Amino acid sequence: MDKIIVEGGRTLKGEVKISGAKNAALPILVSSLLTEGRNIYHNVPKLQDIESISRLLSHLGAKIESNDNTVEIDAGGLHEHEAPYDLVRKMRASVLVLGPLVARLGKARVSLPGGCAIGARPINLHLKGLSQMGASIELAHGYVEASADRLKGADIYFDIPTVTGTENLMMAAVLAEGVTLLRNAAREPEVIALADVLNQMGADIEGAGNSVITVRGVSSLHPAEVSIIPDRIEAGTFMVASALTRGDVTLLDCEPEHLRGVIHKLKLTGADIRTNGKVICVKGADRIESVDVKTLPYPGFPTDMQAQFMVLMSVAKGLSLISETVFENRFIHVSELRRMGADITVSGNAAVIKGVDKLSAAPVMATDLRASASLILAGLVAQGQTEVHRVYHLDRGYEAIEKKFEQLGAVMKRVSE
Ligand code: EPU
Repeated sequence: MDKIIVEGGRTLKGEVKISGAKNAALPILVSSLLTEGRNIYHNVPKLQDIESISRLLSHLGAKIESNDNTVEIDAGGLHEHEAPYDLVRKMRASVLVLGPLVARLGKARVSLPGGCAIGARPINLHLKGLSQMGASIELAHGYVEASADRLKGADIYFDIPTVTGTENLMMAAVLAEGVTLLRNAAREPEVIALADVLNQMGADIEGAGNSVITVRGVSSLHPAEVSIIPDRIEAGTFMVASALTRGDVTLLDCEPEHLRGVIHKLKLTGADIRTNGKVICVKGADRIESVDVKTLPYPGFPTDMQAQFMVLMSVAKGLSLISETVFENRFIHVSELRRMGADITVSGNAAVIKGVDKLSAAPVMATDLRASASLILAGLVAQGQTEVHRVYHLDRGYEAIEKKFEQLGAVMKRVSE
């Protein structure tokens, strides 16, 4: 496994191009299962998670060709209805094939994803919705088995707005008989992006981005050619990096509208942020102010930016409180940040951070993607050389991360262990 060595103390300056969004690309690539014919996807980031979903789609019978950031998928030959444990355990988002498989083949057998480093992450709401749509659901031997002759429209209420749950049921509903209402649906930009793609394929979806989504079932869909929206979490990570290093970074090809919560909080820390079309400029302030943050479903502050923001607060003036309300165990980075000299106390779902003058480099490791990104950020301002181990997690979700940081003047290198 590789590690990344980060030399602390450089000020980041320059331009960075933001890649396509992992969490938009995953469900969109999966939506190819709903139709026969060649779908073309542009701006797909080159990531481990994209490779994992491609492996799963091939296993199910789809033909996939990739060329640079363009991926073509033809699921005309879809024949397999099982998503095996080995493919699902590597990436929870594999569970997104459940709705499309039942919609297209009338049956699916998908390994239950199980918990992960950031929480238990059940899929009960995906299953409850499918069952309301007339699917018979059984859990046996660690698998969900779902079947239905043709799914039927239903009035579905999510107890919690779930991103992949909303996406899964939206994909199930597009080919169902009648109208499906998804209430208390997730409002993330990635949900809107999927609805847009499905509509381009001939689906009839209204309201994505609001908490009630209406899906009128159609009898078939056709292939589409689309471009993946920019990754708001990658963008947010570079914005924090600029603020943290008192830098001056310009982000290209991003979507400021998707980042309002992050921009608002970063401005309160003193950063100067300007947006113009698809460009965001972030100038860090000499004095970083402490700001409290509570993670919430979109349009609230994203849980996927919590770890990165905590690094900024670790070197801010004064005390800040970060509350994590989306996942129950998303403070794995705290113990590693403490080893780098951060002063953080956790109680339940809240972390109190007392800003320190300096972090100090250390060998560190994290067991999830965003926590690993936060350790790279900490390395950028720590005194000395930080070694971030298990870079595998970063490669799941950040395209060419060290190259992009190097372009901005960071000193970073990847080393095979
Ligand atoms: N939940 C349930 N039951 C369900 C579904 C969800 O209780 O059936 C709970 C979860 O345990 C959690 C909350 O609802 O406490 C919200 O989870 P959600 O289902 O929205 O998360 P997800 O769909 O599994 C996606 C992203 C995550 C991101 C979350 C929250 C993808 C592929 N993943 O996960 O991204 O953190 O939404 O915004 O879209 C990442 O990219 O690093 C990442 C973890």
